[in-house]
Amino acid sequence: MAPIGVFDSGYGGLTVLKELVKALPGYDFLYLGDNARNPYGTRSFEVVYEYTLEAVRYLFSQDCPLVIIACNTASAKALRNIQQLDLPVIAPDRRVLGVIRPSVEKVAEITGNGHVGVLGTIGTVVSESYPIELEKWSGGRVVSTVQEACPMWVPIVENNEIGTEGAEFFIKRHIQHILAKDPEMDTLILGCTHYPLLIDSIRKYVPPHIHILEQGAVTAEKLVEYLQRHPDMESRLSKGGTLRYQTTESAANFAEKAALFIGQKVTAEHVRL
Ligand code: DGL
Repeated sequence: MAPIGVFDSGYGGLTVLKELVKALPGYDFLYLGDNARNPYGTRSFEVVYEYTLEAVRYLFSQDCPLVIIACNTASAKALRNIQQLDLPVIAPDRRVLGVIRPSVEKVAEITGNGHVGVLGTIGTVVSESYPIELEKWSGGRVVSTVQEACPMWVPIVENNEIGTEGAEFFIKRHIQHILAKDPEMDTLILGCTHYPLLIDSIRKYVPPHIHILEQGAVTAEKLVEYLQRHPDMESRLSKGGTLRYQTTESAANFAEKAALFIGQKVTAEHVRL
């Protein structure tokens, strides 16, 4: 078995996994949620890097040639170091990819006027990863990036408060803030694994001409392209069509809560990193 490893701080990455499996149904996947130590969104750079590297090493020990970091906070704070400093030493023949670069490439394809908004956790916003990557990889197509941290949105999803009066209040407030930061915005990135679950509420407050970018499908589309460009990696991945879930917290809780994110209960295993 040489599955594609998919890592997230907890449940949120399931929104990405769902799309990856849809796009690459014949492949084997191993999902790891670091539920014992999440959320990552409020943690320091050093801690997110340390935890993410541990998770990547673990997935390598489970024979994953390729790991997708589905978590925006971990992609923002740890991915570059892992790719540039750690991989050449610990596993030069393996690859770790994140969710920011695929989103940036997609934004460059769809924006009309280059005015982009990013919604994310405090960690993602403070890291400035999106503005930096948009500047670097959009081929000059993005001229302005504004960001807004939405620290209440992850707890709203995790506590299943979606659609309640309290949830609507916080969603409306942050959307109004980000729209005020750049009234010319034509593309809005949902830069956090949990936000697609709030899409119905988000749409109520975002003018219809603004394109809302959900990362699951975009990450899947870009991964398919990546595997076409890298047949050497593609041929190393096993194709048994299996899907395993592992968590650093209680397997029973994971199985239960996963339903909120992917609409069905799953069987999970508890693991230590
Ligand atoms: N998975 C995280 C992200 O996409 C959100 C949850 C957390 O803060 O750990 O940024």
